[in-house]
Amino acid sequence: MALHRKVTHLHPRTPPRSEADPLFARAGESHGAARYEIPAEGMRPDTAYQLIHDELMLDGNARLNLATFVTTWMEPQAERLMAETFDKNMIDKDEYPVTAELEMRCVNMLSRLWHSPSGEETTGTSTTGSSEAAMLAGMALKWRWRDRMRAAGRPVDRPNLVMGINVQVCWEKFCRYWDVEMRLVPMEGNRFHLTGDQVTDYCDENTIGVVAVLGSTFDGSYEPVAEICAALDRLQADTGLDVPVHVDGASGAFVAPFVDPDLEWDFRLPRVQSINTSGHKYGLVYPGVGWVVWRNAEALPEDLVFHVNYLGGDMPTFALNFSRPGNQVVAGYYNFVRLGFDGYRRVQQAARDVATYTAGRIAALDAFELITDGSELPVFAFRVADHVAHFNAFDVSRFLREHGWLVPAYSFPANREDLVALRVVVKNGFGRDLADSLVADLERIVEYLSRLDSPLPSPEGEGFRH
Ligand SMILES: Cc1ncc(COP(=O)(O)O)c(C=O)c1O
Repeated sequence: MALHRKVTHLHPRTPPRSEADPLFARAGESHGAARYEIPAEGMRPDTAYQLIHDELMLDGNARLNLATFVTTWMEPQAERLMAETFDKNMIDKDEYPVTAELEMRCVNMLSRLWHSPSGEETTGTSTTGSSEAAMLAGMALKWRWRDRMRAAGRPVDRPNLVMGINVQVCWEKFCRYWDVEMRLVPMEGNRFHLTGDQVTDYCDENTIGVVAVLGSTFDGSYEPVAEICAALDRLQADTGLDVPVHVDGASGAFVAPFVDPDLEWDFRLPRVQSINTSGHKYGLVYPGVGWVVWRNAEALPEDLVFHVNYLGGDMPTFALNFSRPGNQVVAGYYNFVRLGFDGYRRVQQAARDVATYTAGRIAALDAFELITDGSELPVFAFRVADHVAHFNAFDVSRFLREHGWLVPAYSFPANREDLVALRVVVKNGFGRDLADSLVADLERIVEYLSRLDSPLPSPEGEGFRH
């Protein structure tokens, strides 16, 4: 959530708007909605709707938002189902047993999709996106490490978590909120994520786990989870240190199973203890639902689990929130049964095809060079070529916005701060036609910017938060 500050200077409302338009002349519409104080009196629902609807037109167009990983299009039937279930609270398991049942079915489907070992008590839950899932998975790692250390009579005051510097901000939050040292492996040369080569140098007896990302928010590349696990196996053989792995599959855990079935990144690797994903990314559900699944009962310490009443019985829960929308879980189940494995495969393959196609067309433009090509996540990053003198990636992003496209520009973290990238996330709903339009606009922008004979001034506040 953004943290919002109280506005201290309360101005009288801005001048009347739309006075001349008789369609917008209902009482209340001539002076707009209250901004910072709850108004003394309300207004008609149509008026409130119109005012807010109009103000929201100034938001970006979600379908042209190539910055977000989050679903921006669902089928009308899914929307209808979601609208019918807006009022379901996910925590009210006793009152909404069917919604609870659908959540349980989704956890089962995901755990099978991710090859949870048969005979193990695989456990999971829906969450508010991958961020809450990361908090829960991180806590389970921390609790397990603490139990191990206490049992060995070792101190428990300096836990650390090892990950590539490309991890999403949710892991930084986890470390700060739960007092865990963040051990970030920097980028180097053309290595933009964690690999097996460096990971063990960062691990010691205080390492609660390693986070491997499938795939990276920065450039859509998959981290080599199997290679990271193999390096940790060697570490265990050499030193006895047994470091568990959590896979942050926010995007990839809904992509790789369908289009890279032979890639071993999930519970097929014994070291992988837990996996999170965002149902609202390549799970194809509107925001915000996530999932986290633990390999077995041992991976999720019992003292993290709370118990709520369920049909007069006991329902174990593990969550940071209490109330949460149930309709996103319903929509997740809808997608599973509506698409089936083959439907998901086709959707993700289509996204990958459009991503690699678009990346290829951009690579053909002299002004750009690809960093990734969309062949892992359907996401690619590219940069402005070194020979381009008078504009940079931030300029391109700004000019694309004039055409309605939201394509973020951002610099990479240590040790590649010199690299400024643009990133395109291809999702269901972004087809070849739109891809061609994007490339055509890019060509026009490059043609225009190439005529500059000195660099553009840079506006303030540029930047992009992953
Ligand atoms: C790799 C990764 N992890 C975690 C997150 C956070 O996910 P959410 O927005 O579902 O909380 C993201 C979001 O982009 C991500 O890419």
